[in-house]
Amino acid sequence: MNRKYRKTIIAGNWKMHKTATEAKAFAERLKGALPRAKRCSIVLCVPYVDIPAAVKLLKDSRVAVGAQNLHWESSGPFTGEISAGMLADLDVKYVIIGHSERRALFGETDHIINQKVHAALSAGLRPILCVGEDQDQRELGVTMEFISYQLKAALAGVTPEDMRRVVIAYEPIWAIGTGNTATPEQAGEVCGAIRSILRKLYGARIARSTTIQYGGSMNEANAEALLAQEDVDGGLIGGASLDPDKFLQIIHTANQD
Ligand code: 13P
Repeated sequence: MNRKYRKTIIAGNWKMHKTATEAKAFAERLKGALPRAKRCSIVLCVPYVDIPAAVKLLKDSRVAVGAQNLHWESSGPFTGEISAGMLADLDVKYVIIGHSERRALFGETDHIINQKVHAALSAGLRPILCVGEDQDQRELGVTMEFISYQLKAALAGVTPEDMRRVVIAYEPIWAIGTGNTATPEQAGEVCGAIRSILRKLYGARIARSTTIQYGGSMNEANAEALLAQEDVDGGLIGGASLDPDKFLQIIHTANQD
């Protein structure tokens, strides 16, 4: 991380875990144990139905609430879907877009992801845009070509002004939920290469100030080494964000002077 130029952001992605009742208990525990110093931003991306409880409980804390998905249209006949405006109205600040689980299991294409990025930005939400290669792509040596394509497609038409609100999460698919964390060097190398792509697309100033997180089996034991990488500006944490003590330990690590 490099706090001089950009925000460090620790974000939890609960995926499909925790009822609203469980979310309340978690938020209370978290709120009571947060460090005073504000050297990192904290986000909790909870299931839709947990959002009102999480927002209410975390209102006066430094923890922002995020969603894990949204629909790209502002309203209409899309049974079961949620729009960016609905999320913004609940005081949601961030939204995860392009997670590999949504790409693989729910058929999200790069075009859909691009539309979702625009929808989030138009409603004043900050997208956390996920990119990352699978095991085959890494072994074939096409990791950066693939990620470069994902970034260009997802960010098509996003203005430099709007880019200031976009967070990138590098999540290698082989590391998600496997316990097979990328080494700090692997994470640092790809996050650095992502910043170079952003430099070409948006110029040096925006690239330098964009938060690029790492995600994939990040936990309280490996967070320090990952965050020590210059270009790793935080984490998008799945499993370890479900346990308040583990999540707090990661926050404390990111918050160290
Ligand atoms: P895990 O931390 O459980 O590997 O999940 C990472 C992730 O997918 C966060 O979005």
